[in-house]
Amino acid sequence: MDLQDWVSRAVTAVGRWEDTFGEFGRHPSLEVSEERFAAAFETFSDRLRANYPYFHPSYAGQMLKPPHPAAVAGYLAAMLINPNNHALDGGPATSRMEKETVARLAAMFGFGTHLGHLTTSGTIANLEALYVARELRPGLGVAYGAEAHYTHGRMCHVLGVPGTAVPADAAGRIDLDALDRLLAGGRIGTVVATAGTTGLGAIDPVHEVLAVARRHGVRVHVDAAYGGFFTLLAALGTPGEPGAADRASLDPGPWRAIPECDSVVVDPHKHGLQPYGCGAVLFRDPAVGRLYRHDSPYTYFTSGELHLGEISLECSRAGAAAAALWLTFELLPPTPDGLGRVLAAGRRAALDWSDLLAASGRLDLYQRPELDIVCYFPVAGPPSRPGKPGQPSLASIDEVCARMLADGMNDQDDPVFLSTLTVTADAFARRHPGVAADRPDTRILRSVLMKPESENHVGALHARVEELAGG
Ligand SMILES: Cc1ncc(COP(=O)(O)O)c(C=O)c1O
Repeated sequence: MDLQDWVSRAVTAVGRWEDTFGEFGRHPSLEVSEERFAAAFETFSDRLRANYPYFHPSYAGQMLKPPHPAAVAGYLAAMLINPNNHALDGGPATSRMEKETVARLAAMFGFGTHLGHLTTSGTIANLEALYVARELRPGLGVAYGAEAHYTHGRMCHVLGVPGTAVPADAAGRIDLDALDRLLAGGRIGTVVATAGTTGLGAIDPVHEVLAVARRHGVRVHVDAAYGGFFTLLAALGTPGEPGAADRASLDPGPWRAIPECDSVVVDPHKHGLQPYGCGAVLFRDPAVGRLYRHDSPYTYFTSGELHLGEISLECSRAGAAAAALWLTFELLPPTPDGLGRVLAAGRRAALDWSDLLAASGRLDLYQRPELDIVCYFPVAGPPSRPGKPGQPSLASIDEVCARMLADGMNDQDDPVFLSTLTVTADAFARRHPGVAADRPDTRILRSVLMKPESENHVGALHARVEELAGG
């Protein structure tokens, strides 16, 4: 794929369309000289160099990677027109693309009926799901796992809804017994199950959460902002069982339950190869559309068809985001053979690295990855005397992790970019009881292997991180 060529084709295609309208002169107030543009652009492109190399396999930190060239060309072409998907009047072509891509997302999850739209982010998508939760269960609270994204507690506060964190089990998933006890109290109207937690990539057992919730007459929302596209790997069969096509395959249980839940959020700007901001929220019952009802004297005038703004809390939204996703899905559809292959490579990379970490004398695996996030820590603390490795304790692990993070990214010759995750002493002890708990929490190292290229880079990454652990 020649990005330069596709970018040029995008500009040409839009130019040709513009040429079908009458000629007119551009206003001189918008004019800038080529020299000034060139000078500003040079400064601008220099400043962009202050980024971390998210595109490169040596970047193994947060959930970041560049969009697919199809998304870039699609976004650019549509952005040159700059449609607004709030109303069909603002973006007729891209609104249709949005409805089609949302239908593809609904099909990916197995929803029979749906109402949904793209959003600017996972945060806004979850806010919408919690807003609907509040409207449908007034006066009742929302429960979410202790390891759920911070947005749930925060948005409950924004919405004036009591939010309750349910303790996590030993693998970072919502504790079902604790959830059952909480729901028995009758104060919760909606539970959030997280299909892929942000920190560890743990998958709440959505099917079991659903069973507990339904027993108590409680709604279920699934936050699959990060993990949602991994449902494509559940189609590959249960790992270890005959018929599982790939070792990246996932236990289908939690994923198969999503279409029975009330709503789900997924972020195409995470694993859907899209630029920011592209989130999505889907509701199983299209009737929730009534909760969005509002009047707009300025919009909704060219068509009696449903305008996306009528079922969204946001007003203006980039039609270009829908265009980019639509074009990407034409080439890499949300199917096991399409986007699924991209996610499977990242998951295999995580599994391969976790094997190396478990066998390492310098590093240890925090817990086995469920998706493509690997968490690990240095085995020995900083030397107590030169040449004498320190005893592992939370304080020493925290100190060495911080040093490794800094040393890795500041190395001019062979940089490696990691991230950290703060875990409580209790959570650490449940997985690694032999480590002295001399502080209430510690940082461990965390790598999201969301680029398929990581699969061929695991050996080098491991060697480099082991080297960093050696000091
Ligand atoms: C599970 C989960 N929910 C919600 C969010 C928030 O999404 P966004 O950053 O798109 O607002 C994230 C972000 O990482 C996430 O991992």
